Amino acid sequence: MEKRGQFTSKFGFIMASIGSAIGLGNLWGFPYKAGMGGGFAFILVYLIFVGLVGFPIMLCEFAIGRKARVNQIDAYRKFDKRFTIAGVAGTIAAFFILAFYGVLGGWVVNYAVKYGINLFSSTNTIPQPQQYFNDFVSNGASALIFFIIFMVLTVFIVIGGVENGIEKASKIMMPILFLFLILIIVRSLTLPGASKGIEFLFKPDFSKLTPSTLGMALSQMFFSLSLGIGAMITYGSYLSNDDNIQSSAIIVPLLDTVAAILAGLAIFPAVFALGLEPTQGPSLMFITLPAIFNQMYMGNVFGFMFFVLILFAALSSSIALLEIASSFFMEHFKLKRKVIIPIIAAIITLWGTPVALSFGVLGDVKVLGMGFLDFYDFIGEYVLMTFGALAISILIGWVLKPKMVIDEMEQNGKFRFMGKKYFSFTIKFIAPILILAVMIMSITSMI
Ligand code: TRP
Repeated sequence: MEKRGQFTSKFGFIMASIGSAIGLGNLWGFPYKAGMGGGFAFILVYLIFVGLVGFPIMLCEFAIGRKARVNQIDAYRKFDKRFTIAGVAGTIAAFFILAFYGVLGGWVVNYAVKYGINLFSSTNTIPQPQQYFNDFVSNGASALIFFIIFMVLTVFIVIGGVENGIEKASKIMMPILFLFLILIIVRSLTLPGASKGIEFLFKPDFSKLTPSTLGMALSQMFFSLSLGIGAMITYGSYLSNDDNIQSSAIIVPLLDTVAAILAGLAIFPAVFALGLEPTQGPSLMFITLPAIFNQMYMGNVFGFMFFVLILFAALSSSIALLEIASSFFMEHFKLKRKVIIPIIAAIITLWGTPVALSFGVLGDVKVLGMGFLDFYDFIGEYVLMTFGALAISILIGWVLKPKMVIDEMEQNGKFRFMGKKYFSFTIKFIAPILILAVMIMSITSMI
């Protein structure tokens, strides 16, 4: 069997973990949800959720992964056979999430290439964003080709292994992402009328904190921190015992949240300065933003920077997803990385094909009343991820007991665990209760 990979430095590990965390969720989800969900009030609740639920669960995932040093299915099985199902759920979730994430990644590649080609031309790259987007996504062939290109890029990195693929790529992509984000913020904030965007993002409105916004904040937090589907178990399993997992479980959520707020500062001041409507998701990325770049001095340059930034965010998440989807098969069946990674990626590409085609020929097909993109997102992000997060908090809080994580963190006294009581209490009570409450709320809201 191939030697098990290991991150070569704490910096590399942090970059890979925040690479997995920072993704489309931060860029096109968080800012809009914050703006609509009560501005600073939403951000405050989000931060409280990060502290009460995100941090302890991330710590558990790191600890389980590092202690077991295997893929998540075998890791769960090792600790308690009954929880094997949580590892299986996480692995399946990675297939679902990557299937639609890859399609979106393909769209981003198309735009990055488009802006890249026209970087030095003085004309607008995408003069009619709405038209361009509709034509592109409804044309099944182009959506599929760019989806495949994105998956090939992902395979190309993951096949290099943990040190030479995932770690190296993250160490390059993440700093560039932050740099571009800051350059774009400077541009966006200096546009006349930018302050309205700041107001949209931050003006506190506590009356907006309804049960449904609270649920939205909690699932946004899980998705954004890549929790509940074993991403951090997988990365943690490649971590050396010389590293402090407690500080990582603080730094990663912190940087992820900073990136989400920075994304809001990059996008919404410009949206409001140009008198456009705030939106989220695909229409924000692929229609509203290009419309902004059209009117901006050096718009092609900023457009190119922006789409490269989004591409890096998406790729550093997709490599984590592909690693999670593959690691069980790689280890359990002792298959070579070079062989199994392209196979799993091909299966996911087939699995994602209905999503890629769902804006064209398959536009009328609905599953449980949803288009394919929403359906895959629903299964991966809501059903399996919530299940996984609940399972891990019960496993650690009640079955293995918090001490297991504390011991794994302290490494026989090498490190000192700050806030043992805080961790034990949140993982035993707060995390499962909050997750259950949100589950019940969203089920009742569906019936
Ligand atoms: N955190 C990613 C984002 O914000 C999405 C994501 C969810 C993810 N779960 C994951 C990425 C697991 C990698 C691994 O877009």
